[in-house]
Amino acid sequence: MNTTTIHLKVNGRDHDVQVQAQRLLVDCLRYDLGLTGTKEGCSVGVCGACTVLVDGRMVASCIMLAVAADGSEITTIEGLSQDGRLHPLQQSFIDHGGFQCGICTPGQIVAAKALLDQVPDPSEDEIKEWMMGNLCRCTGYYKILESIVKAVEAVKRSGG
Ligand code: FES
Ligand code: FES
Repeated sequence: MNTTTIHLKVNGRDHDVQVQAQRLLVDCLRYDLGLTGTKEGCSVGVCGACTVLVDGRMVASCIMLAVAADGSEITTIEGLSQDGRLHPLQQSFIDHGGFQCGICTPGQIVAAKALLDQVPDPSEDEIKEWMMGNLCRCTGYYKILESIVKAVEAVKRSGG
């Protein structure tokens, strides 16, 4: 079977990965690189569970070919913590009950990070609108919204 070598920078680390042409980015991350934090839900680009950042842009990794990401910088949920400390969004989801089964959670948090990268102090309506593409069948969404709002407050308190 035909394979090609692609270069990815994932969470700051360089990787050369041999992939088949039809290898999906989510499978490349999970099975070739062992980054199983990224989850797969619907597999058709609808639920947001597989969200990662590719060159800073939100991407559904279940519908992106790995070869299409060749040369890109990718951030997954594993890349959000720094120096052993959770990202404020990760901590807030824990503190405010932003997850139950957890399948949607990495995608929720990566999507919220993409928002805060662009809009550091979003309104609740902006958060709701941005997060519309990330589905959750457990929490009823209120706790997810609260987790993001409280993370924004925590970052402001810390002067970030
Ligand atoms: Fe990719 Fe649902 S698993 S959008
Ligand atoms: Fe279970 Fe969101 S926490 S799907």
